[in-house]
Amino acid sequence: MTQEEFLHIYRFMKSRYGIDLSRKKEIVEGRLENYMRANGFHSYSEYMNVVESDITGRYERELVNILTTNHTYFMREFEHFDFLRGKVLPQLREKEAARKDLCIWCGAASTGQEPYMLAMLLKDYFGFEHNKWDTKILATDISTDALAQATEGRYDKSQIESLPEHWKRRFLRPLQDGRYEVTKEIKDEIMFRQFNLMDVFPFKRKMHIVFLRNVMIYFDKDTKNRLIQKVYDVMEPGGYLFVGRTETIDRCSVPLELIQPSIFRK
Ligand SMILES: C[S@@+](CC[C@H](N)C(=O)[O-])C[C@H]1O[C@@H](n2cnc3c(N)ncnc32)[C@H](O)[C@@H]1O
Repeated sequence: MTQEEFLHIYRFMKSRYGIDLSRKKEIVEGRLENYMRANGFHSYSEYMNVVESDITGRYERELVNILTTNHTYFMREFEHFDFLRGKVLPQLREKEAARKDLCIWCGAASTGQEPYMLAMLLKDYFGFEHNKWDTKILATDISTDALAQATEGRYDKSQIESLPEHWKRRFLRPLQDGRYEVTKEIKDEIMFRQFNLMDVFPFKRKMHIVFLRNVMIYFDKDTKNRLIQKVYDVMEPGGYLFVGRTETIDRCSVPLELIQPSIFRK
């Protein structure tokens, strides 16, 4: 891959998806190599011409699937879920007692572990009262491969091991092939959609809870600031934003209150 070819891919991913691959030439090359060979491309320039001229969007979709990092796992940064149960949900239960309607958005849902955990927590927290509440979760991501896995909701035994026993018993069912599938009851609580965080936010309702964890690490400072402004605008006053533990946000641009590292309130 020549430097020029790399810059072409870098600019494409940055301008459309915000993903900054400037220091990832080897990773980009390593991930695209087999794909190029299997699809009969002779050079990266030829390939990028096809990506940019293909009106079906198939090649662009596949490029995004290859170049995004979808690493996630159940129980990741579990303190956020503890905080939800201990502080956020009791507040919202009281505040929204009349409407019984919560808007929850998971903006980098990847292969589904994060939104499924949210759904499990909500079921568990509201108990018998859950069916009186509308707590549907909107779970979005840019990767169609990740979303397909998320929608399927099937995980290896090793992937679900860390979940609390009572959640495993209640919300997962064993399959004949040794894997486990999230129950329909939990799947029905989530709407999975493809959505690019760089796009205009189309949401009609304000969000009570936003999870945007471990995605801003791929964006540069300006992209992050623009994104946080849009997130702020769609949050309900008093709503909570959760970001990854290693991520920071610039609170000079938005008046979010820092509740504890990686947890913010509008
Ligand atoms: C490392 S995963 C994080 C998953 C999960 N939130 C967690 O913390 O475990 C990052 C996800 O962000 C998604 N992503 C990257 N850029 C995006 C964009 N512009 N719009 C939407 N999703 C994006 C990737 O496809 C990937 O699934």
